[in-house]
Amino acid sequence: MRPPVGSLLVRGIGTLVTNRPELGQGALGELRDVDLVIDDGVVAWIGEAGASPATDSMLDAAGRCVVPGFVDSHTHLVFAGDRVEEFTARMAGTRYDAGGISTTVAATRGAPGSELRQRAAALVREAERQGTTTLETKSGYGLTVVDESRCLEVAAGIVEEVTYLGAHVVPPEYRGKEADYVALVTGPMLEACAPNARWCDVFCEEGAFGVDASREILAAGRAHGLGLRVHANQLSAGPGVRLAVEMGAASADHCTYLDGADVDALAGSDTVATLLPGAEFSTRSPYPDARRLLDSGVAVALATDCNPGSSYTTSMPFVIALAVREMRMTPDEALFAATAGGARALRRDDLGALAPGLRGDLVVLDAPTAAHLAYRPGVDLVRTVVRAGRVLGSLFV
Ligand code: NIG
Ligand code: FE
Repeated sequence: MRPPVGSLLVRGIGTLVTNRPELGQGALGELRDVDLVIDDGVVAWIGEAGASPATDSMLDAAGRCVVPGFVDSHTHLVFAGDRVEEFTARMAGTRYDAGGISTTVAATRGAPGSELRQRAAALVREAERQGTTTLETKSGYGLTVVDESRCLEVAAGIVEEVTYLGAHVVPPEYRGKEADYVALVTGPMLEACAPNARWCDVFCEEGAFGVDASREILAAGRAHGLGLRVHANQLSAGPGVRLAVEMGAASADHCTYLDGADVDALAGSDTVATLLPGAEFSTRSPYPDARRLLDSGVAVALATDCNPGSSYTTSMPFVIALAVREMRMTPDEALFAATAGGARALRRDDLGALAPGLRGDLVVLDAPTAAHLAYRPGVDLVRTVVRAGRVLGSLFV
């Protein structure tokens, strides 16, 4: 049993971003000079400075900006080894393709569970230090029944949202026998993995899984009670985004190469477009057209895609800065996508905003406004992180 959290007053908030326009000013529902109380992990009260009910403990924001905790809805944290040589070669001109995944698969298969756990937990702590209060992470570097299962056990022990990605690529031993691998992914591997996962994902891309195999994999995941997500249209145009919409996936992730039909399909759906500009940055690829998506009314999330191949960063502030500078999102749109957008991509209505009844996840920024996250790129502005009413302060010593 978790020990009770008690109540926490966050006082002296200069600017509070609630993400609820009805609660304050502008698109982010900003409030000035307020206090906020979290009781037993949940926001209980927001109001005039100095007027709060009594609490067990207190955190002084000293006039700083407070934003909802970042929701990183797409990461691959369970792996061994790294691919720094691949990155270095790419910066000298080599193109990124899905082939490098097998390097990480080999390293992951060869690593003891304790190493996988330790490394993934270190990445979680790294993300928390940068303001992330909710993480999704996936399997996908095991690709055998045993290795996918143990990667998901590790994931389930360290993050809240866990995704089965046995369909990351066809592993080398199944080359030429793709149908057999799909049968494994939809059969015994899914059986072994589903108990530790909430989501099923597939990399729908040339060189990974075609549309028919992807549909079969998603349908099997759904039949096992899993929600759906799709790695879609990352490296080329294709059917992934429309498949995600057809299958009612919570999110189509990457969305780098889209045509009008893809945008229309997303706009008329409940599927979030999760943009991962860290991947475009680290693979030197064109960025997704975020403006077109937003202007068409598509719900957009931002996430890191943290993985050793295409985006080895846990930093949501970095992703926000990229979204503003490179994808022409406004600072408000980027902050919203990195918090409320991620919550929506995970179909979580208890996260991503600061309002009574929602989980008390927040970041005190060493800045007067949230726009400073993009305005001061590369600068550590995360002063204090609170998750479910607990100050994660010990992480900062
Ligand atoms: O989301 N697209 C597929 N998977 C990862 C990359 C994995 C890797 O290169 O190791 C991604 O970018
Ligand atoms: Fe990914």
